[in-house]
Amino acid sequence: MSKAQLIEIAKKDLAHGRAGTQDQASSIVKIPVENYFDHTRWRQEMDLIFKRLPLLLATTAELAEAGNYKAMQAAGVQVLITRTRNGEVKAFVNMCSHRGARLMAEGCGSAHRFTCPYHAWSYSPDGDLVAVYSEEQFGDIDKAEHGLTPLPCLEKAGLIWVTLDPDSKLDIAQFLSGYDGLLAEFGFKDWYHHSTQRVEGPNWKVAYDGYLDYYHLPILHRNTFGTEIGNKANYYSWGPHTHMGRPDTGWAEYEGLDEKDWPTEQLLMGVWTIFPHISIASFAGGGRSVMISQLFPGDTPETSYTNQIFLMENKPATEALEQEAQEQFKFLEYVVQEEDYATGIALQKNLDAGAKSHVLFGKNELGGQRFHEWVDTLLETSDEDLPKLFQTG
Ligand code: FES
Ligand SMILES: [Fe+2]
Repeated sequence: MSKAQLIEIAKKDLAHGRAGTQDQASSIVKIPVENYFDHTRWRQEMDLIFKRLPLLLATTAELAEAGNYKAMQAAGVQVLITRTRNGEVKAFVNMCSHRGARLMAEGCGSAHRFTCPYHAWSYSPDGDLVAVYSEEQFGDIDKAEHGLTPLPCLEKAGLIWVTLDPDSKLDIAQFLSGYDGLLAEFGFKDWYHHSTQRVEGPNWKVAYDGYLDYYHLPILHRNTFGTEIGNKANYYSWGPHTHMGRPDTGWAEYEGLDEKDWPTEQLLMGVWTIFPHISIASFAGGGRSVMISQLFPGDTPETSYTNQIFLMENKPATEALEQEAQEQFKFLEYVVQEEDYATGIALQKNLDAGAKSHVLFGKNELGGQRFHEWVDTLLETSDEDLPKLFQTG
């Protein structure tokens, strides 16, 4: 079913390739410049988008074994994700029930008990409070009432989504709008986590805009990716999530063949964005890999940071392949830092100069248009109406 959808996409990319066309919006869209720096709006984006929607916080590969965990900050919330003894993934606020200390320092690791660094209360990967230090002196406490605060969490397609609002009623699978079925074709659940690196960027939407068009590729990235890549994209959406393909006559050789004869790996090329802050792109240095760009707003509207999570289909088997993989990942850090985000940081400084009231998204920049539409919609949608935005079918 999902592969059939991928083939449909390839056929549309082929049709556009033959016609020399691409997907286009009906008109050019203007976005007010203050959307990128207004503090009130930014606060609303934090509360109504990042604190309300499921976020892709981790990959199965980072927590492959029972007892593995990942501690991280997401939109200012400290989160602890665990894999329990029976293999289930759980997520919690990374906060001790005693006086609120951060339980685990940021990073991935393995632990069958999480012991607080402040007064040594300890918790199981299920979030249960299992031991209170000097319990007799502390006083009577019902341990069952003082576990970690759980967060809604879903592991699908080898990826892990967490909602930062403990009381969220939004069904994560519903939010994914069927997109996870396509992402599952990568087989990430069996991939290897090579490494993660961090890049500092401008306002989160300035940064994310750059993941939603190919228009800039042969210009901004001419010295790194080159110019052959073209500047045309086709946009395929599932709810707020958008995949970008490209017009491509290369698919002609598979036309008329059975589903099984279309190469899945190639069908998955292009960019897979996951609203509101993820972009997944494929690479080949050192073996098949993806860079999962996980973007978070920084402490101010003008800043963001991006975790580049590198997953590989296979762990590099030789020193030479490992070297190649490392070079690939350093190269991508360079491209994003020195080309995309350097451009974004300088662009950001212009936005509040009073010189222009709007920026423009062309008919060929449909990905960015849809993204900003979703941001606007979310800011206008009440908690009660939120699930209705993601009803499928
Ligand atoms: S704050 Fe964690 S044990 Fe005291
Ligand atoms: Fe770029």
